[in-house]
Amino acid sequence: MSQAEIGLIGLGTMGSALALNIADNGFDIAVFNRTTSVTQDFAKEAGPLADKITPTESLADFVAAIKEPRAIILMVPAGDPVDDQIAALADLIGPNDLIIDAGNANFHDTNRRVRAIKTPFLGIGVSGGEEGARFGPAIMGGGPKEHWDRVSHILSAIAAKFQDSPCADWMGEEGAGHFVKAVHNGIEYADMQLIAETYGLMRDGLGMDSAAIGKIFEGWNEGVLQSYLVEISGKVAGTVDGATNAPLLDVIVDAAGQKGTGRWTAIEAQHLATPIPVIEAAVVARNLSARRDQRARMEELFGTGPTEINADDLPVSLMEQAMICGKILCYDQGFGMIRGASEQFGWNLQLPAIAQVWREGCIIRSAMLDDMASAFTDDADRSLMAAPFFADLISKTHDSLRKVVSVAALHGVAVPAHASALAYFDAMRTGRGTANMIQGQRDFFGLHGFARLDDGTSDNHGPWA
Ligand code: 6PG
Repeated sequence: MSQAEIGLIGLGTMGSALALNIADNGFDIAVFNRTTSVTQDFAKEAGPLADKITPTESLADFVAAIKEPRAIILMVPAGDPVDDQIAALADLIGPNDLIIDAGNANFHDTNRRVRAIKTPFLGIGVSGGEEGARFGPAIMGGGPKEHWDRVSHILSAIAAKFQDSPCADWMGEEGAGHFVKAVHNGIEYADMQLIAETYGLMRDGLGMDSAAIGKIFEGWNEGVLQSYLVEISGKVAGTVDGATNAPLLDVIVDAAGQKGTGRWTAIEAQHLATPIPVIEAAVVARNLSARRDQRARMEELFGTGPTEINADDLPVSLMEQAMICGKILCYDQGFGMIRGASEQFGWNLQLPAIAQVWREGCIIRSAMLDDMASAFTDDADRSLMAAPFFADLISKTHDSLRKVVSVAALHGVAVPAHASALAYFDAMRTGRGTANMIQGQRDFFGLHGFARLDDGTSDNHGPWA
């Protein structure tokens, strides 16, 4: 039996799709799943790709089926299952065999594993959902570069391509790949929330039905907002429920799930002291969405929030402009967080490379990401807001963002991501802020000291007793 070039453990939705993608790109692959029937079903359903796949029923057979030095992808749930799987492999693999965790790991776990595991280890972020995994995901690699180089030909082959360039790259040492994937997911939450808020304005403020809203998103997908998430939002809004004949959106419960990556991003941003308020607003909105009973009780107590908005006060084009502005400000924050992590963790993360990897295959792929890649290629140290292309777009759209947030506030429609973006914009363009008052208060009650503007001295105190 000829040996496989690579192995994969975990044939769930993402693992199966990734294994088929690898086989489809001409690589022999050995696969293993804890439940043998899953492996057998997978092999049966592989069709013509079965020739490239070696299904195995024990971990020892799996390891034996892979060419040395081995490369083994783990596609098991994040957390303990990854550690358990690594422990199970420990006695079976050799000192040069490479383990690649391709799940949505918390990057702190990847940092720990890269340091603690005796054999080579990589943590790679894989984005694009099931379809991406099968036909071309975006891949964000982290860990020692020499290990990445061992498998980069396979990962580049299976990745999505943007104008022939693979959306797979090494991001940096340790958990850098999983860190970049977490920020990707934070941005994913924010993009989704901005769209959901716009949907709310159209549904509750303008009284539009789902089909009409779907058409608007479809139209926006032809313009500056062209993106996978706007595209699928149009499709979701335009779908009719087979059982009731009602718009499908009208029968979906309004409580959003989350596996935790957006939350990790928000928590990490606090540790890094890098402001990402739009992403945080999106995470909060998901948490709040789950409180359905409380929301129903508050509606009984205070009356419903949304009241009718006159279409002249909220033209569809205004909402499009507002979303453009909010989106740029959100990405400014996300990339700012990556820059902050790079400095604090010593990772030397490359913003142009990250924007390039996100151009295709991943959930946040969009036309704008290509412009972001160009902006960072021109100057990787400049914030996105300050890059001429985006500064110009912000200048043209921030007034629309302000109007949309104002109209929403006056009519009781909650638009936390839009409002956070606006507050961020206003704060960022205020040279003389208000934290002098915070410093005065801190000194008053705790003698924490303040710096003076006039003579540049620090650790001054006020005349309070
Ligand atoms: C991707 C996605 C994916 C994520 C799901 C669900 O890039 O393919 O980010 O990794 O796990 O979209 O995420 P939540 O359950 O947190 O919404």
